[in-house]
Amino acid sequence: MTLLQVKDLVVEFPNRRGTLRALDRISFDIAPGEILGVVGESGAGKSLTGAAIIGLLEPPGRVAGGEILLEGQRIDNLGFEAMRPIRGRKIGAIFQDPLTSLNPLYTVGRQLVETIRSHLPVNEAEARKRAIGLLQDTGIPAAEQRIDHFPHQFSGGMRQRVVIALALAAEPKLIVADEPTTALDVSIQAQIIQLLKQVCKERGAAVMLITHDMGVIAETCDRVAVMYAGRIAEIGPVHEVIHQPAHPYTSGLMGSIPDMTSDRERLNQIDGAMPRLNAIPTGCAYNPRCPRTFARCLVERPELMHAGATRAACWLHDAADPHAGQAEIAAKHHDALAAGERATPEAAEPIVEVTR
Ligand SMILES: Nc1ncnc2c1ncn2[C@@H]1O[C@H](COP(=O)(O)OP(=O)(O)OP(=O)(O)O)[C@@H](O)[C@H]1O
Ligand code: SF4
Ligand SMILES: [Mg+2]
Repeated sequence: MTLLQVKDLVVEFPNRRGTLRALDRISFDIAPGEILGVVGESGAGKSLTGAAIIGLLEPPGRVAGGEILLEGQRIDNLGFEAMRPIRGRKIGAIFQDPLTSLNPLYTVGRQLVETIRSHLPVNEAEARKRAIGLLQDTGIPAAEQRIDHFPHQFSGGMRQRVVIALALAAEPKLIVADEPTTALDVSIQAQIIQLLKQVCKERGAAVMLITHDMGVIAETCDRVAVMYAGRIAEIGPVHEVIHQPAHPYTSGLMGSIPDMTSDRERLNQIDGAMPRLNAIPTGCAYNPRCPRTFARCLVERPELMHAGATRAACWLHDAADPHAGQAEIAAKHHDALAAGERATPEAAEPIVEVTR
């Protein structure tokens, strides 16, 4: 059974001049225990997707269409108070800065015990025992003593371990982790990601992991969703998306495929910029930057469609469209010219014009 279903999710921000559509019909699933990575350039809508799922969209941002279902139950229409028991109990959250999740005035033990007791039917002593166990599991040394320390008495990496313990305290089914290591020292980022993966797998918790780091995605995730301009460009198993990307945007991002034996690399830079929310082009949102654009891309928006082992929102993969294959030939011609090669006679006459 699916744990989380996001169907045609639309998030909008009304303002004085109209309405900005920041997420435009996002659809994806997360299975129990699965780790789904979410990547894409800054402003693609990754954090908003996470915020919509945990019910923490900042007003005036609102879900304006579609549905979010957790274990088959709709949660997008619950409102802040009705979401409270679900947030924490069923969905845990980890943000970039551990201090945003911790109250500086309370010991970490008090915060853990309160979270455990507000969601699970256990007494104070049992909750404290569980809290110590969680701190031990997340690699806090001398957890019996450290439980009575305040957040400022922990280093940044140790604080994020505490936040992971807090997110797991009520045994949620899903953790939304938004750039959980970006604010941490590079030397400890890998440890924290490994810890997150290990403790979630042990407990069967699924994770939606938002990150810019393809090395992290490759090492940690089962599947990955690539976002662009508030839409999903491609989604599929990690290995296939990295090594056989079907969407030209993913191919661009993967221009520097991370080498697991060397230092981590970030996503490749692609020429041009993602469009502003009030200027998303008609048709495929990626068409101004795409080296494979053809006529249809300028007028019709592609939905996710099967593309080899993944699904991509790209007309090149429309099996029902005879022009898609022709466009592929034209695109290869374009690539060949770009690479300075002599084009083959059949590729030299693109059947569909390639617009750059
Ligand atoms: N409060 C807001 N009001 C208006 N627009 C907003 C608001 N919050 C986010 N947006 C817009 O929604 C879009 C998506 O934002 P989001 O924070 O989800 O991006 P992101 O993919 O997480 O980027 P980053 O990698 O920089 O964290 C952006 O264009 C952003 O400007
Ligand atoms: S639909 Fe067209 S513009 Fe969009 S990614 Fe595919 S080829 Fe490029
Ligand atoms: Mg973000």
